[in-house]
Amino acid sequence: MTLSVSGLCAEHSGRIILRPTSLDIEPGVRIGLVGASGSGKSTFGHALTDDLQARGRVVSHVPQSPDEALDPLRSMAFHWREAETALGVPHNAQRQRELLQSLGIAPGDLGKRPWGWSRGMQQRFVIAMALIGSPELIVLDEPTSALDPVVAADTMNLLDRFLEGCQTAMILITHDLCLAARRVAQLMVMHDGQIVERAATADLLHRPETEAARALTAHRSWLALPC
Ligand SMILES: Nc1ncnc2c1ncn2[C@@H]1O[C@H](COP(=O)(O)OP(=O)(O)OP(=O)(O)O)[C@@H](O)[C@H]1O
Ligand SMILES: [Mg+2]
Repeated sequence: MTLSVSGLCAEHSGRIILRPTSLDIEPGVRIGLVGASGSGKSTFGHALTDDLQARGRVVSHVPQSPDEALDPLRSMAFHWREAETALGVPHNAQRQRELLQSLGIAPGDLGKRPWGWSRGMQQRFVIAMALIGSPELIVLDEPTSALDPVVAADTMNLLDRFLEGCQTAMILITHDLCLAARRVAQLMVMHDGQIVERAATADLLHRPETEAARALTAHRSWLALPC
């Protein structure tokens, strides 16, 4: 079922950081949200997740850094159980194995705390946890920005493969047009707390209509990069 929000907005200290925003997200669609730093992408990702969850929709959010999702004092197994509890689903060891395997994580290290895992593995673990409830939408906020390009591409490939044929929609927040260009069917451009343009990826990259989109796509060299 299409997920719809309308009139999403946010302000901090009297300053509007997200202008009233409405959006329809069709099942299984992959949308990139790009825009300059400070344009409101993360604010939008949180507002969207909160609004849909409050209305009972199954939506998960992967923050930019695994530090935001993982408590250094708790084991990975604890985090997994906590995510299951939050979703109200019983522990399912087989589903856990499948999800971890899908993200390239070998079972066996779940007793360790996050610092016993590399950043790349932590981030994959957080993405695997986000998939526990077979969400209708997964919002990924710069999911690979802290990873080296090889691990970043591997992680996105694994996620792509997992989502293939799924009804789970994806919003990929990134300022990396190179990453977005190869991963999503549509792009939305955020500027000054507002989504100013939404179009098919190739259309937006080659025929940007707004000033903000033109500024983002001005550096054509991203097309040649191997990612
Ligand atoms: N808790 C907060 N208090 C005050 N201002 C905030 C807060 N969170 C965000 N802002 C402001 O809101 C605006 C949008 O921030 P946001 O983090 O959503 O941008 P962004 O597009 O995700 O940026 P980046 O690409 O750097 O992650 C920025 O000007 C930021 O300074
Ligand atoms: Mg952000």
